Amino acid sequence: MKRLDWLRVSLLAGLTGCAVDVEDGGAEGQTTTSMGSGQPTDTDGGSESSDTGPVCEGGCEGAVEIAEGIVECSDGRINRVGGGTFDPAINAPGCAGTEDTLHCTSDADCSGEYTKCISATEFFEGFEATYCGCVSACATDSDCTDGRVCVPPGVLDGQPDWPTCMAVGCATNSDCGECGECGLGAFDDGCGWVQTIQCRTANDVCNTSDDCDPGADCFPHYDESWTCEYSGCAIGRPLLVEAQACTAAPCQRSDWAAPAPGFAGLAKDPQLAAHWAEIAALEHASVASFARFGSQLLALGAPARLLLACKRAALDEIEHARLAYGLASAYGGAWIGPGHLDLHGLVVEADWREVVRGLIVEACVGETLGVAEAMAAAEGASEGAVRQVLERIVADELRHAQLAWQSLEWLLTQASDDDRSWALALLERTIAAINFNGGTNEGFDRPAEGVLGGLRRAQVHRETSARVLAPLAQALAS
Ligand SMILES: [Fe+2]
Ligand SMILES: [Fe+2]
Repeated sequence: MKRLDWLRVSLLAGLTGCAVDVEDGGAEGQTTTSMGSGQPTDTDGGSESSDTGPVCEGGCEGAVEIAEGIVECSDGRINRVGGGTFDPAINAPGCAGTEDTLHCTSDADCSGEYTKCISATEFFEGFEATYCGCVSACATDSDCTDGRVCVPPGVLDGQPDWPTCMAVGCATNSDCGECGECGLGAFDDGCGWVQTIQCRTANDVCNTSDDCDPGADCFPHYDESWTCEYSGCAIGRPLLVEAQACTAAPCQRSDWAAPAPGFAGLAKDPQLAAHWAEIAALEHASVASFARFGSQLLALGAPARLLLACKRAALDEIEHARLAYGLASAYGGAWIGPGHLDLHGLVVEADWREVVRGLIVEACVGETLGVAEAMAAAEGASEGAVRQVLERIVADELRHAQLAWQSLEWLLTQASDDDRSWALALLERTIAAINFNGGTNEGFDRPAEGVLGGLRRAQVHRETSARVLAPLAQALAS
């Protein structure tokens, strides 16, 4: 994991108040270096305060047990009231060895008591890909480590068909003083399903996804209360407008596609064309995300070095979009570029906590995970043209992540004790939330072409959480 050590050292070195660590091997340690760049951010982490009043008032009515230790209330919310004992059998076909991608070939390749090397199919934009991957099950909570609990199948969207360990903020209702409800929720972030168990609070804006607009899920993602979360899966920061990832629809045009060397030799592949078109649209939109962050920095009186880094980041995103549209055009065999980007409803929020909330969730954590993902994708990519694009993205996104952490460090110097404590607690929760994704969603996985499936992404996220994000948060708190 040398690449993660390198990432940690690079980001720590960008913080003016921190000496670089050298814990657990890999990178060589240095003393503090100022790396004058950073990264953009945008606000609006998808979690708003309630304008409908506390929703936990009245409690869970008409509770019906839907599985041992799990109840469903009459309004559809699901709570955990206790543990259970479940059948750990994994009813999925074993690996045949003929699948498109082989992360394992037999059960012997998978470690742990209730594990299996399964064969599965993933669908993406009308295409399908087969793969083999290790999955694990549990019978009781005692089979789960790190504070996770065993949840039976059929309770939440996106779960596998066997009981799995799930990360929790509470184990049962008795852990949740305020509302006395330990809720289970699932959220499709656009890259795959994530499930978690968290206390419901008086600040929640929803109980179930029925309380949210179509396309949103009620989830306590990255925040202390249950809110309507919208998907936004990208390397780097999405542009969120009214908590929804905003992108331009594709259209036929050639002036956005970068004519990079090697693109012309790529074989047509509709699945990869769709993948890169989606990434291109997100990169294109993130130009506006940096424009908004720049305005927020100005509003909050930020130093010039952060503004300069923000401007540079917006230029980087234009180039990322051009490269991604170039790949999409090459794989699709036809020019593709962005149409109009609808910015109706875009608000430049300059409230300190709102800026910091977006910064922490989407930039400090989101972009650091993005760098780690891009590094892992580049490492596995054997297609030269794609690898070059990913390596360029790694270099740029590292600067963007540095900007995020440097911005947070500066914003904390402007904060009251209360605001500082709030921000550090949010940072801690956001990092802890990464482990909610147990990697049960496998996703479209073609590592040779630089595309990571859900299992790999979840693994990269967990490793980055422990080896990069937690030390950075610790450094800021000290
Ligand atoms: Fe970025
Ligand atoms: Fe980017």
